[in-house]
Amino acid sequence: MPKLKHMFQTRHHAELYARFRPQPPKELIDKIVTYLSEKLERPFNAALDVGCGSGQNTRLLAPFFLHVTGTDISSAQLEIAAKDCDSSNIKYQIGSAEKIELPSSSLQLVTACQCAHFFDLPKFFEEVDRVLVPNGVLAIYGCNLSAWKEGREKEITEVFKEFNIDRLENYRDEQLQLLDNWYQDIIMPYTENVRIFPINLVFSRPFGDIVGQVTSWSGVQRMFQEDPQKGDELIKDFRYKLANALELDAPTDDTIVTCKVIHVLLMGRKPSSF
Ligand SMILES: C[S@@+](CC[C@H](N)C(=O)[O-])C[C@H]1O[C@@H](n2cnc3c(N)ncnc32)[C@H](O)[C@@H]1O
Repeated sequence: MPKLKHMFQTRHHAELYARFRPQPPKELIDKIVTYLSEKLERPFNAALDVGCGSGQNTRLLAPFFLHVTGTDISSAQLEIAAKDCDSSNIKYQIGSAEKIELPSSSLQLVTACQCAHFFDLPKFFEEVDRVLVPNGVLAIYGCNLSAWKEGREKEITEVFKEFNIDRLENYRDEQLQLLDNWYQDIIMPYTENVRIFPINLVFSRPFGDIVGQVTSWSGVQRMFQEDPQKGDELIKDFRYKLANALELDAPTDDTIVTCKVIHVLLMGRKPSSF
């Protein structure tokens, strides 16, 4: 299995990811802010978004904090995040989840959106515990893409399952199993914790954007790198099967369909020092 370090590193992959990755739902961010507010007073000072990629999640945190830092191991992702940034209280910097370059007890919130499965979790948790203030919160969340049409749920689920699990079996990172299982196997480092599932984001979207999003997945990009023809065939087959499942006759990229993104949210609170 190729190493993760080859993924999200090229400008092409980062651009594809940024173009098609939807932001997490506002409802999910509201749940984090509500949880934080139970034991910490607003305004919150500082948050860190680890594995921030092209900044879709980082930007959503900006209204609630005086300072937000986004870190990632991919400079290609960070370049796009910085280009798309319109908040003066966000800064992006290279950094890994396992070694956080911020002072101890300096953050109210640490988030890991769609990336905790890639981390060395024991090392990440140790760092999170160092940088959080007492009553600070660690929020880990992730999602899986789907589509929706009344009465076609089974067929649609089958298309995504076959694509994601069966066809990409030798190309996708093993750690993604944690997310396939909706993070049920992640043991949060704090006894005060909560798991919220599902949080659904349902919205209208061009058919071509769903195809674009699956094309940006690491496993698919890995297949394209190794064998572009195989990658093309996989995407063509996905288009055909998804169109059938949605009962669409020859959809174009612009055909509007219903997209469903299912999220899971884990939150844990660092104990207060009293
Ligand atoms: C699927 S993307 C998610 C990006 C973003 N959080 C989002 O929600 O769209 C995963 C990101 O995690 C980053 N990543 C993977 N391992 C990492 C690590 N150990 N430390 C920091 N970032 C990491 C990758 O470079 C990539 O940008």
